[in-house]
Amino acid sequence: MKEIYFAGGCFWGVEHFFKGVDGVAEAAPGYANGSLDSPSYEQVYTDATGHAETVRVRYNPDRVSLQTLVRLFFTIIDPLSLNRQGHDEGTRYRTGIYYTGEEDLPVLKECFEELSGKLGCAPVTELLPLKSFWPAEERHQDYLGKNPGGYCHIPLKTFRYLRLYQDLALLLGDEPDPIARMANAAALIHSRMHFLWTGFYLVRDDELVLGPFQGPEACFRIAYGKGVCGTAWAQRRTIVVPDVEQFPGHIACSSDSRSEIVVPLWRRAEDSHAPSGLRMTDGESPVGVTEGECPVGVLDIDSAEKGTFDSTDATWLELIAAVI
Ligand code: SME
Repeated sequence: MKEIYFAGGCFWGVEHFFKGVDGVAEAAPGYANGSLDSPSYEQVYTDATGHAETVRVRYNPDRVSLQTLVRLFFTIIDPLSLNRQGHDEGTRYRTGIYYTGEEDLPVLKECFEELSGKLGCAPVTELLPLKSFWPAEERHQDYLGKNPGGYCHIPLKTFRYLRLYQDLALLLGDEPDPIARMANAAALIHSRMHFLWTGFYLVRDDELVLGPFQGPEACFRIAYGKGVCGTAWAQRRTIVVPDVEQFPGHIACSSDSRSEIVVPLWRRAEDSHAPSGLRMTDGESPVGVTEGECPVGVLDIDSAEKGTFDSTDATWLELIAAVI
């Protein structure tokens, strides 16, 4: 068993999140890296003791890697927000990763570099050795388990995406055929999240061609740079469209579609000579994007309601696209 400490704002939500991660044996809220021994919640609440609300995560490294835990942690924080997460403000709500063994540092640094690359700047999240950790009072332990519907600063859909992400990795396993992987991925995402349309368009020469999907029939081909899909391909980035009527050039395959998200699919760098090997196992880089590389397709999702998708969906669907 190994351990790592995550400060990600109010510890109720962070604890609840990590309790749902496969391979995590224990997630316990407490107060880290402050100046006072055995502080009370009220003392930490003054912000004068220097503690951060932190969750101790004990995990089985044979079942979940430190890299995966950190990538999952990055989905539940705003790494550019200093001393504030959600509605909670104060140095006790700063974000940080605190380690107990120097051997974890190379992986942690790599994860931070990956995050900086995505953000285009350095996160404000701390990366420090753990100096002290005091478990929180009994009433804070498993707070959201004991009080379902209680305050949680993490968007609720995060918990559904976590389940989906983990189940998808299990379902796809090491099936080597990318079409088969996409077919089952579309089925699982669609049935779990109840979207209007979930599917793939694949790059074929200079256009996108319809791949495996779930939902109403759709257009066969989309030109480079056209529609939301062709734009995501050309711009090599995820595009969130809160209202399809406001997106110039949107292609309406279904008149029921009101909002949409399109996520590029990347061939893993080490698979560049084996296109059928799009896959990720735990502990590997999920993105594997070679600089200058073009997407091999897109994951396209439509909703029958406006404003369904935001940065939470973008973050999770990018992780999911990497698994696929
Ligand atoms: N709306 C997409 C076309 C594909 S359908 O949504 C399935 C677009 O504008 O690219």
